[in-house]
Amino acid sequence: MALAELYPEHLREQLRRADAALQRAGLEHLLIASGVEHYGFLDDQTYPFRPNPHFLAWVPLNRHPSSWIAYTPGNKPVLAYYQPEDYWHEPPAAPSGFWTDHFDVRVIREPDQARAHLPADLSRAAILGEANSAIGDCLPNNPDAVINYLHYHRACKTPYEIARMRNASRRGASGHIAAMEAFHEGLSEHQIHLEYCAAANHTEHDLPYANIVALNEHAAILHYHHTPAPHPTQSRSFLIDAGGSDAGYASDITRTYAREPGAFADLVASVDAMQQTLVDEVRAGRDYRDLHVECHRRIGAILQQSGLVRMTPESQVERGVTSVFFPHGLGHFLGLQVHDVGGFQRDEAGGSIDKPPGHPYLRLTRTLEPGHVLTIEPGIYFIPMLLARLRASDDASAINWAGVEALLPYGGIRIEDDVHVTKGAPENLTRDAFRAVAA
Ligand code: GLY
Ligand code: MN
Ligand code: MN
Repeated sequence: MALAELYPEHLREQLRRADAALQRAGLEHLLIASGVEHYGFLDDQTYPFRPNPHFLAWVPLNRHPSSWIAYTPGNKPVLAYYQPEDYWHEPPAAPSGFWTDHFDVRVIREPDQARAHLPADLSRAAILGEANSAIGDCLPNNPDAVINYLHYHRACKTPYEIARMRNASRRGASGHIAAMEAFHEGLSEHQIHLEYCAAANHTEHDLPYANIVALNEHAAILHYHHTPAPHPTQSRSFLIDAGGSDAGYASDITRTYAREPGAFADLVASVDAMQQTLVDEVRAGRDYRDLHVECHRRIGAILQQSGLVRMTPESQVERGVTSVFFPHGLGHFLGLQVHDVGGFQRDEAGGSIDKPPGHPYLRLTRTLEPGHVLTIEPGIYFIPMLLARLRASDDASAINWAGVEALLPYGGIRIEDDVHVTKGAPENLTRDAFRAVAA
């Protein structure tokens, strides 16, 4: 179904959530600032604009600072739409599109003019936004009761949001295919990055997060950001973690490639196959913490079968050996933010669900529900700092150090897909997108 057909129900869901959140907080109005441009210190240059995700959840306007939504239950929401008269920059186009009929749109020419379109009495208003968005007496207060309710429910995507995320996935898949080809041609990290952006049709600023384009041992740096560095004499391996965006909705995709067959290529194939078994287990009712711990056990099985670790998977997990090779979480919620909100929340009132002991980097501890979208991103890395600690530990004798050292020049492996939890089999947004783009 087209976005235009899905949007009315999406907006109704946002209104329902707003009604419930205001009722919980005992408030009467919900005001949402789109955000403001941020300037560098003592500079007239701005950082890339990052809108308030609460604003984006209502309207697909991701390049629109100084705009506001004002909603009072029972009334049509007002949108104060900032469209300056400006010949220095390209101002936002006049409001148009399938969403406009659902708002009482008021064009404003100066940021402060928004105040006239917000309720006069703000004593019973939830005002969502960063502190800099304040206009006059309208100061963001971000009440916990409202924020917690909205964040908890934002984990469940509407069909409109899923359609947006399918688009974001296809943009990412197009970029990934071009990047893979660029790696096989022997291009540098910077050139691969440029090929990615061109194929995804994204400028650097449109990317949902900075691309990780890592050749050889750079793949062992979890958040490596390439520099326009000299071309390596020989690229052996390639890890790319890069996404796409559609009206602020993100995809978050990682692939790893080997240039030649061999131990590293075999390991990539094993992680890829294991990753797909985990995706299959993304089912409603599943505690994501259990899936994360199960992933460690399967990483342990790969390490044992490949002859790198002489220890049962269970002992490897118990003794923290798998955490040396897989030192991050299995995944996280995804949506308007790459690490989307609400991943730890106990319920709509707030609270938090603990991480499993010994797994401090897990970003999602909730039980899965239909509508959730999350990543599944297992990996195996050869990180010198963590390997040195293992070498100094009681478990050093269980490691095939010659095998590990032979893999150090390849850096590491991560395979990451974005998965939509349904009432039945999971929808793998990423693999579907690769198939659609290749077709
Ligand atoms: N790209 C960031 C992550 O995978 O979480
Ligand atoms: Mn991720
Ligand atoms: Mn990623």
